[in-house]
Amino acid sequence: MSRKPNRTEGQVETTGHVWDGIEELNNPLPRWWVWVFYATIVWGIWYTIAYPAWPLVNGATPGYLGQSTRADVAAEIAAVNERNASLNEALSTADLAALSADTSSELHGYAVSLGASVFRANCSQCHGAGAAGLQSAGYPSLLDDDWLWGGTVEDIAFTVTNGIRNEQSPDTRWVEMPAFGDMLSREEIAALVAHVRAISGQEHDAALVEEGALLFADNCASCHGESGEGTREMGAPTLNDAVWLYGGTPERIEETIRNARFGVMPAWARDYRGASGLDQAQINAVTVYVHQLGGGE
Ligand code: HEC
Ligand code: HEC
Repeated sequence: MSRKPNRTEGQVETTGHVWDGIEELNNPLPRWWVWVFYATIVWGIWYTIAYPAWPLVNGATPGYLGQSTRADVAAEIAAVNERNASLNEALSTADLAALSADTSSELHGYAVSLGASVFRANCSQCHGAGAAGLQSAGYPSLLDDDWLWGGTVEDIAFTVTNGIRNEQSPDTRWVEMPAFGDMLSREEIAALVAHVRAISGQEHDAALVEEGALLFADNCASCHGESGEGTREMGAPTLNDAVWLYGGTPERIEETIRNARFGVMPAWARDYRGASGLDQAQINAVTVYVHQLGGGE
């Protein structure tokens, strides 16, 4: 089968190439195509003048339109900061009780999400990412309604601001349980363990309970309460329930009575921690966040 050449003999020159009888014609390019081609060249030159293009030693030619993605990002960040500045301002002066009650407000939503990120960055290493605490180290769970020092927003804000048993804040919460290892005999401590196990509803040595109850009334009730209900002003944990700060096994209870414990939480206010501390808006945010985790009062 042969194809007719697309030309009238002699009208279009050929390049002289011929393969198997197929000639290569030298037709001119369509005019519209040529103009588009020239236009792209002109556009390309204009583009390198208008926009950042040619690499120099420090950066590139800026282009006369002054466009810069870096500046766009900086402007966006500034806009977000400006928007949050008014929220942060409102948050740092907010009435905490009213704010935590008004769960549908924009400020409350902002406080909870800011508080969650403050918590992740500053609190989770001790209290756990989910705030469930770590019993082996005496880091309390912040999810339940069992509070050592108090679970109202004011209590929580005070704890976060001043910390617990630290040297930084003069207002820190500070009550120390004495170590009874030197004051009481081995038998007396065993009797106290039996008593604490009894009031917390656990298996215990019944023969020791009577002596344990007397020792408890003399040595422990001033802080932990007569029936072991705990005292918030002292940060003395409730002993007649199933929630433990350090643990309710006989070994852990004995260890606590013998050596006492010294749980320390840093004070977070900038007054005490400098730049690594939290500003008032962040303290309020993390307070609202912790309060709404489930156990807030
Ligand atoms: C270095 C470890 C550590 C870090 C970090 C830490 N905490 Fe604590 N926190 C503790 C300890 C220990 C206690 C319990 C102290 C005690 O025995 O009374 C505690 C207690 C608390 C309490 C009191 C709970 C109650 O039952 O009354 C609150 C509230 C609290 N922490 C919130 C926070 C928040 C919010 C942050 C982050 C801004 C934070 N903590 C960071 C160690 C820490
Ligand atoms: C001066 C107050 C005070 C006295 C007195 C005191 N405690 Fe405590 N007790 C505390 C405080 C505060 C804590 C929390 C310690 C910490 O977190 O560092 C605590 C913690 C405990 C715990 C750990 C509870 C848990 O959840 O893991 C036990 C058990 C306990 N005390 C038993 C006793 C017994 C028994 C006596 C009496 C022999 C006693 N305490 C006397 C203040 C006191």
